[in-house]
Amino acid sequence: MRLEQKQAIVTGGAGGIGRATAKALAAEGAAVAVVDLDGEAAEAVAAEIRDAGFTAVAIRADVSSEDDIVRVVATTVAEFGGVDVVFNNAGIIRRSTALELTADEWDLVFGVNVRSIFLMCKHVVPVMAAAGGGSIINTGSGWGLKGGGRALSYCASKGAVVNMTRALAIDHGPEGIRVNSVNPGDVNTGMLRDEARQLGEDADAFLADAADRPLRRMGEPREIASAVVWLASDESSYVTGSALVVDGGGIA
Ligand code: NAI
Repeated sequence: MRLEQKQAIVTGGAGGIGRATAKALAAEGAAVAVVDLDGEAAEAVAAEIRDAGFTAVAIRADVSSEDDIVRVVATTVAEFGGVDVVFNNAGIIRRSTALELTADEWDLVFGVNVRSIFLMCKHVVPVMAAAGGGSIINTGSGWGLKGGGRALSYCASKGAVVNMTRALAIDHGPEGIRVNSVNPGDVNTGMLRDEARQLGEDADAFLADAADRPLRRMGEPREIASAVVWLASDESSYVTGSALVVDGGGIA
C-alpha cells in the first residue's frame, strides 16, 4: 500500500481515466474524494470503491467554479482531515479549427481544462503547505506537447496545463509540494467516442485509427492510473515540474 494515510481528490472522477485512477489510489490506501459534474456517476464510483472495502466520498462540482472548488477542498478536509494528493483531471474537448470555434466554446474549454487547475491550486496549496507538502498531478495531453488537428482550444488549453504545471512546481516546491503533468495519448474512454461524434466519423473506425502507434493499440485508463499513482506516491519524491508522457510511443 503506497498511499496509506493519504487523502486524495480526483476531478473528472466519474469519467474513464478519473474512475480508474480513483480506484487505483484507493486500492493503494488513499481516502478518495470523487469529484465530477455528473454527481450520480461520481456517487456510483465512490460506492464501487467502498464496496471493494476502501474509502471514498462523491462530490458533485463544476471545476470551473471557484465556489465549487472551495466546497470540494473544504468537504475533503472535513471528511478525511486533509488533502495530500490532487489529480486535476476533468477535461473537455471541442474538435474545431479557429474558424469553426465560437468564443464561448473557447472560454468553456479553458474554464474546465485550465481555470480549474488554477482555482484548485489556489485553494488546496495552503492546506498541503500547512501539512508539510503534497503531490498535484494535472492531466495534460500529447496534444498539449505537440499539437493536433482541428482541436485548437483543446491543444492550447493542454499546452497551458503543461506549462502551468512547471510554474506551479517552481512556486510551491519550497513548501514540499510536487506538481507534475501526465500526458496521455489516445485512451479508451468516452472522450474518444465524443470526438468521433463531433467529427461525424464512425466511432469504431476512429478508435481503430487510435491504434496507429508503436505499441499498436490505444491506452487503457488503468495505464494512466498507474502513472498517476506513481506520481502521487513517495516513489517519485524527487520528480516535480515534469511532463510524463504515457502514449504507447510516437505522439510526443
Ligand atoms: P471522460 O469524458 O471519460 O471523463 C471526463 C470527466 O470529466 C467526465 O466524467 C465529465 O463529467 C467530467 N467533467 C467535464 N466537465 C466537468 C466540469 N466542468 N466539472 C467537473 N467535472 C467535469 O474523458 P477522459 O478520457 O477520462 O478524460 C480525462 C482527462 O484526460 C481529460 O482532461 C482529457 O482531456 C485527458 N486526455 C484524454 C485522452 C483520451 O484519449 N481519452 C487523451 C489525452 C488526454
